[in-house]
Amino acid sequence: MEMKKSIVVVSLIVPLLFLVPLFNGGIGTAIAARNQDASESWGYVEVRPKAHMFWWYYRSPYRVEDPNKPWPIILWLQGGPGASGVGIGNFQEVGPLDTNLKPRNSTWLRKADLLFVDNPVGTGYSFVEDNKLFVKTDVEAATDLTTLLIEIFNRNQSLQQSPLYIVAESYGGKYAVTLALSALKAIESGKLKLKLGGVALGDSWISPEDFVFSWGPLLKDVSRIDGNGLQKSNSVALKIKQQISAGQYEAATNSWRDLENIISDNSNSVDFYNFMLDSGMDPLSLTASELSQGISMKRYSRYLQSSKFTPGSDVDLDSLMNGAVKKKLKIIPQNVQWGGQSDSVFNAMYGDFMKPRIDEVDELLAKGVNVTVYNGQLDLICATKGTEAWVEKLKWEGLKTFLKMERSPIYCKGDKSTKAFTKSYKNLRFYWILGAGHFVPVDQPCVALDMVASITQSPAVSK
Ligand SMILES: *[C@@H]1O[C@H](CO)[C@@H](O)[C@H](O)[C@H]1NC(C)=O
Ligand SMILES: *[C@@H]1O[C@H](CO)[C@@H](O)[C@H](O)[C@H]1NC(C)=O
Ligand SMILES: *[C@@H]1O[C@H](CO)[C@@H](O)[C@H](O)[C@H]1NC(C)=O
Repeated sequence: MEMKKSIVVVSLIVPLLFLVPLFNGGIGTAIAARNQDASESWGYVEVRPKAHMFWWYYRSPYRVEDPNKPWPIILWLQGGPGASGVGIGNFQEVGPLDTNLKPRNSTWLRKADLLFVDNPVGTGYSFVEDNKLFVKTDVEAATDLTTLLIEIFNRNQSLQQSPLYIVAESYGGKYAVTLALSALKAIESGKLKLKLGGVALGDSWISPEDFVFSWGPLLKDVSRIDGNGLQKSNSVALKIKQQISAGQYEAATNSWRDLENIISDNSNSVDFYNFMLDSGMDPLSLTASELSQGISMKRYSRYLQSSKFTPGSDVDLDSLMNGAVKKKLKIIPQNVQWGGQSDSVFNAMYGDFMKPRIDEVDELLAKGVNVTVYNGQLDLICATKGTEAWVEKLKWEGLKTFLKMERSPIYCKGDKSTKAFTKSYKNLRFYWILGAGHFVPVDQPCVALDMVASITQSPAVSK
């Protein structure tokens, strides 16, 4: 019932659609469309022959013109690998509408324009026509994303006025840092017309080794596993460390899967996205195979669709994206299922999944790029304990001072309870977000919104 009503709303919002066969660049064809008032546009870029990447741009209705502060654009990068930013980030986290197609009060559009991309190819509405075309590494994904940015930004002077902030979640953090480096290179060589504002790494999988070592001790400290569980967990973590240093990355991914099972078995199925909760939103998510490959898109969405987050709603993201939204967008090929190639995306990256990207963060810091790290207090999969451990491994010259500095508490909107802590030194900033699990903007929308306003130097200061 709810769902039917919503479908009507969508088609009313978009009475007219302009299909623009645009962009005949060197790479291949691109196709784009927009709604009547051009507040939204979307399209495909053929980033390599037969590899099609989908993007969706929202122009903010809250835009403030300030000659001293350009209006920012946020590029949201989802994790997985294989989780859809166009679906999850957009409809479940920060976009203008929720999965019931009702306005989201805390949408990040209040502070910036939003660009969602189904990255890498094969994710969400993006697709490949040949299975050999899935990317195998973060760097390959970054190359495709840079091609996409060139297609979108180079021909639009108004977009070029806005600095681009790359904000990532989970595995998306590995794409974010490789993309930032690749984009900077393209900017320096004149191939890409864009201003990079900075990079923000939310609960990001930057150093798999540090995360797997954090799981056991953290869960032991909060009584979720016992000493026996801790011992088992640490011994597999040690094996993973050895595999990583021997360059056996696929074996390390296998062991990561084993470790997740051990943690589940010894904790009576703790939820990896919030250690205060039990997993088991869906009994299927507890089977071994679901805990590995399926972790990408499916567990993500199930978790976010649990009643905890959307009371009274049973809208299923798959049905929404393959139904009402696909219909609205018009340009999704009939035979392309949203999420249909997602497991293949994960599998193709099996050998890169456990590779750390700490060096890339160091490179960005050395180049003077603003880097923000933010982490939800209750996350397990990318636990704050693991994030702090990789930050301490940075070679960045400011690290010593940064570590010694005191944090400042953050409150939100007259609420007197502490919502977060932050500190920054030179171009590194860290936010500890209290009461949030893996999905920070969902769990703490108010503080997350204030945080992105600050990161992006948004001229929209007060809500
Ligand atoms: C959401 O809307 C309500 C009512 O307008 C407002 O009081 C509240 O502060 C809003 N929350 C955010 C995060 O903007
Ligand atoms: C390019 O710029 C125009 C206005 O300057 C804008 O209306 C349009 O939506 C932009 N294109 C994209 C992809 O956002
Ligand atoms: C980078 O961060 C500093 C403060 O830490 C800020 O003054 C500067 O404007 C930021 N640059 C951008 C492009 O956001």
